[in-house]
Amino acid sequence: MSGHNVWTHKGTFLLAAVGSAVGLGNLWRFPYLTGENGGGAFILVYAVTIFAVGIPILIAEIMLGRASRQSPIMGMRHLTKTHNTSRAWETIGWLGAVSAFLILSFYSVIAGWAIHYTWLMLTGSLVGADAQAISDGFDALLASPGLLTLYHTLFIIASGLIVGMGIHRGIESGLRIIMPALFAILLLVLAYSVMHGDIAAAASFLFTFNLAELSLEGWLQAVGQSFFTLSLGMGAIMAYGAYMSSTASLTRTAIAVAAVDTAVAMVAGLAIFSLVFGAGLETGQGPGLMFVTLPLAFAEMPLGGLVGGVFFILVLGAAISSSISLIEPVAAFLVERFDMTRPQAVTLMVIASWALGLLTVVSFNIYAEGTIFHTLFGRSAFDFIELLTNIFMPLGGILIALFAGWALTHSEVMKEMRTNETWFSIWRFLVRFIAPAAVAFVFLRTIPQVDGYLIPAIGAVLLVGAFAAGRTFLMENSQEK
Ligand code: TRP
Repeated sequence: MSGHNVWTHKGTFLLAAVGSAVGLGNLWRFPYLTGENGGGAFILVYAVTIFAVGIPILIAEIMLGRASRQSPIMGMRHLTKTHNTSRAWETIGWLGAVSAFLILSFYSVIAGWAIHYTWLMLTGSLVGADAQAISDGFDALLASPGLLTLYHTLFIIASGLIVGMGIHRGIESGLRIIMPALFAILLLVLAYSVMHGDIAAAASFLFTFNLAELSLEGWLQAVGQSFFTLSLGMGAIMAYGAYMSSTASLTRTAIAVAAVDTAVAMVAGLAIFSLVFGAGLETGQGPGLMFVTLPLAFAEMPLGGLVGGVFFILVLGAAISSSISLIEPVAAFLVERFDMTRPQAVTLMVIASWALGLLTVVSFNIYAEGTIFHTLFGRSAFDFIELLTNIFMPLGGILIALFAGWALTHSEVMKEMRTNETWFSIWRFLVRFIAPAAVAFVFLRTIPQVDGYLIPAIGAVLLVGAFAAGRTFLMENSQEK
């Protein structure tokens, strides 16, 4: 595709990928998972996973985007043709589009809670409130379909407006304002948490590795989290990669994205736990950590309303810079494939995802339990949609790693990565074997009926073995091996 859009600035891909990566996953999910899984033990596994699995797949996904220069679905269609591989690999694009649509539907609802808390904080409504009042307040929010729908609508419209304005005037300009502001706020909140919280306790909670606390469950969660936080396996990174300047270094950029993303998670974790410990509260609050425990900590601290308000603005900004990257791959596909205008494509995606989001809204109240849906699927619609994405994301990741590892030729990869042979070999070994095996293991483990880990382990080995054996078929007609 000649004349395909490219970011105006060489560094925009980095900005955009960091914007996509840094989100609720860093500020909300990472701290509570760490709290639930014993602090340092979890972080150790998480960090190893980011390096051994996250970065190699991140490189692979950017590579597929930049090599095809189209939206994920059309891009994979193109790559399967030029590489004489089975058209089935187009699944990568479709899985991405479907997951983006699913994730956006609930991501927007949860991000909407942050609108509510920004408002409560800035108006000082929570100042001096006690634990009971704050936890009742959160329950009341979840019990109100009207309020949840209102915030969900506001958030998704704001995201749609940015993407609708185009990749230059909308996404690129938007991120140039949002991202620096986010980093400034994060540092401000960190400074505040050093002054008013218990930063030493937070640091020892996060960085003391008690190996005894390592569990299989924690490891599985860490792998899932590394995917979620790097926005992997669902086309977002591929779509942004399609606009990446050919001269920007792919390897260095990927490492920078992972490093910044990890750093933000750590700083956010430090600040949040510092405030929580400083207020004498417990960490193991699960998803309520951000919306119950943290507001309670702010409620007791000097200027807590103001700083808390600014903190929730940070959450909102981080969420919106991620949600726009969920809209982009699908919107770009609709534009390329059906010749829609960008505003039409974005409107279609946003309205569909908004409507699906209503299922998440009612999962917290009217249909919290006891419906046909629960009987059929054994869980609420929200949990079901989340489960689907937890299956699709790893699946997409495995396929991306395998395609980049086995189907792309040495010279193509070198042209994109521009590293030496040693790094190339390390990367290729990781995406061919280690990453797919590790992710396949987690993927099979996520399927609820499968219990224990022997079956998933055997399955993972077989799956990867089958792919490796099938490489002759895969590479059949390609000129270069
Ligand atoms: N990375 C985002 C976060 O940490 C969430 C996310 C997961 C995402 N998958 C994505 C964002 C795909 C954009 C595209 O909050």
